[in-house]
Amino acid sequence: MVERNPTQNPFRPTAGAEPPQLIGRAGLLDEFAYGLQIRSGAPGLLTIFTGARGIGKTVMLGEAEDIARAQGWVVVSETATTGFLGRIGEAMRAAAEELGHGPAGRRITGIGAAGFSITSQLPPAQQLGWRQLGEQLLRLLDEKRTGLVITLDEIHGANRDELAQLAAFVQHFIRDGLPIALLFAGLPAAVSDLLNEGVATFLRRADRIDLHAAAIRDVEVSYAETFASLEYPVDPGLIRKAAESTGGYPFLIQLVGYHLWQLAEVKQGLLSEADIDLALAAAHQRNTRVVLAAALATVSPKDLEFLRAMSQDDGPSNTADIGRRLGDAKNTVGNYRARLIDAGLVQPVGRGLLEFAIPGLREYVRET
Ligand SMILES: Nc1ncnc2c1ncn2[C@@H]1O[C@H](COP(=O)(O)OP(=O)(O)O)[C@@H](O)[C@H]1O
Ligand SMILES: [Mg+2]
Repeated sequence: MVERNPTQNPFRPTAGAEPPQLIGRAGLLDEFAYGLQIRSGAPGLLTIFTGARGIGKTVMLGEAEDIARAQGWVVVSETATTGFLGRIGEAMRAAAEELGHGPAGRRITGIGAAGFSITSQLPPAQQLGWRQLGEQLLRLLDEKRTGLVITLDEIHGANRDELAQLAAFVQHFIRDGLPIALLFAGLPAAVSDLLNEGVATFLRRADRIDLHAAAIRDVEVSYAETFASLEYPVDPGLIRKAAESTGGYPFLIQLVGYHLWQLAEVKQGLLSEADIDLALAAAHQRNTRVVLAAALATVSPKDLEFLRAMSQDDGPSNTADIGRRLGDAKNTVGNYRARLIDAGLVQPVGRGLLEFAIPGLREYVRET
């Protein structure tokens, strides 16, 4: 937990920002922490976090990084946009140099002054160099009884070849008993596809931690603790109402908390139910703007039609019904279904059923 000025708004409704309290995630990093003790080949050292947008995947990677740093491990934190392998290579080189063994990589194949290429495929000489450099760094860290953690966020968008290459390198390090951990995060359905495509069968062995909404009760307890440092107490009934309105969804937990806090600062007195309603409305509006509008920004008109057809149902939709509503052939429906799953907008729930993957998306689609 971060130390903060107790009178300053502690909520952090921003992607990847560390929340004042990590709600509903107790024990999830225990296997990883245990793996850090073993240092090589432990299951928790290869972990994938999956979950919808705003559920807290990036925050979990950050927590894991903090644990590792506290144990003296070197951390390389990357997002899976094109060129991540080269960027990881550069970070490993910097770490090796910092460990005091002169300019690392001098004697390493294929890497000139310009360093690694930031392209989706390293040239063969650089591939060899990457591996040599990784080994060099890992041996240095092994002597110090620590290791290297690589985190890769948003792997649903990763170039498949680049990811397969990283997996191959890491598998090789593990086989050599070197101290390496690899943590990923991505959208659930897209990650499942990626693993099923056989990009790297080795990755299927990863511990998969699917993140869900927190329990409302836990949100309520956390709000009560956090709001306790406000000058005026907040009525427990209103705290419960605020907690319920979040649905336990982490991004909304931060938004609702943030707006409530802000209102309490302005008001300088007890908050009424009408005040709370105002704060909740502001929070939900912002959630709509930030999460839902952003999620829909990249979809095609045809995708949107598909989502509209889905939104006619109050619960999960049958793909056959959607096809009927759209008047489309089965294979076109299948195509859109796959695209929308990849985009993290819908998710399969049992045979032939689909549901919206982001809270509030159904209502938003109905209104737009
Ligand atoms: N366990 C949690 N408890 C409370 N707030 C959280 C939790 N996890 C994440 N958050 C908050 O939720 C928001 C989204 O987190 P983030 O990690 O960016 O989600 P994702 O990477 O899944 O899109 C951030 O504002 C973050 O502070
Ligand atoms: Mg994220």
